[in-house]
Amino acid sequence: MVRIARVAVRTTQRQTRRVDLSTFHRVPLGTWPTPLDTCPRLSAALGATVLVKRDDVGGVGLGGSKLRKLEFTLAAALAAGADTIITFGGVQTNHGRLTAAACARLGLRCELVLTRSVPRSGFAYDRSGNVALDRLFGARLHLCDTDEEADYTAGALATATSVTLPVGGSSGLGVLGYVAAAQELTEQLDDRVVDRIVCAAGSGGTAAGLALGTETPITAVSVSPGSARKIDRAARLAAKELDVDPPKLDHVSVDESALGEGYGVPTDEVWSALRLFARTEGIVLDLVYTGKAAAALVSGIRPGETVVFMHTGGVPANFAYAPELVAEAAR
Ligand SMILES: Cc1ncc(COP(=O)(O)O)c(C=O)c1O
Repeated sequence: MVRIARVAVRTTQRQTRRVDLSTFHRVPLGTWPTPLDTCPRLSAALGATVLVKRDDVGGVGLGGSKLRKLEFTLAAALAAGADTIITFGGVQTNHGRLTAAACARLGLRCELVLTRSVPRSGFAYDRSGNVALDRLFGARLHLCDTDEEADYTAGALATATSVTLPVGGSSGLGVLGYVAAAQELTEQLDDRVVDRIVCAAGSGGTAAGLALGTETPITAVSVSPGSARKIDRAARLAAKELDVDPPKLDHVSVDESALGEGYGVPTDEVWSALRLFARTEGIVLDLVYTGKAAAALVSGIRPGETVVFMHTGGVPANFAYAPELVAEAAR
């Protein structure tokens, strides 16, 4: 495993400052560096050069972007003497699944407070995908109908030895995981120049960490409303942890073109993007995050540009969409 210690972070006025991530507590949960796949058949299909950063592979709990955040947040919780982690998400949250898996690895109890925020129900959605995995990892699940109920439930579960992580794991410490990822990517690219990085934006921590760690333009594709505000907030929280000025985010552009009917609702363009990545490169995207990011990539790509597409994981949740998945996969 390669650990990134010294990182140049972007702060105000286009200045960069070197910070030392090795001063933070960290537990190993993933396999770094994740591969950077050259994708010749996908690139040919899009008339551009697309590299896919495979944060979907490796590590505990079937892998995914959230492990980068959990390496910092769970290490801090352990250092503080915690025995229980409480966190939030939608019913099919990937952050919840990976928190459950990481807690199992670290001997922590895990309480997942899940809100029915997606207009989907039925056996597959309510029981399969990440929900089945959460239970397999031994987490306790608390299903809520509203955010208010979720806050109340989490409050009632809290004890002197529990730590509560925010939705998506995007605390200031969590975002440091993607500051490290930006540095990892820079080292993999070596001298190769890329025009932009495309990633999905949910709670904003992935885009915020990348934005702190690299000067490369970032297209943050919204999977829920309010991305600009969430990314700004996540970047400020991380800057505070690093004790640097809040970063200028003028190299981040938020793309809301793939949102469709909202969080967790796949569009036709998402299904097309899934088939494209699968049939050109054998890469499986998820329907909620990377499928939307890929839909925006496909519709917005400029001829000849070079793009790094962040595959942040989430594929286990596809099985929660079993009836549609079966039909759309065969089209
Ligand atoms: C698979 C996947 N990709 C991307 C994201 C978005 O990351 P962030 O919440 O840091 O914006 C998430 C968040 O849940 C995710 O699960």
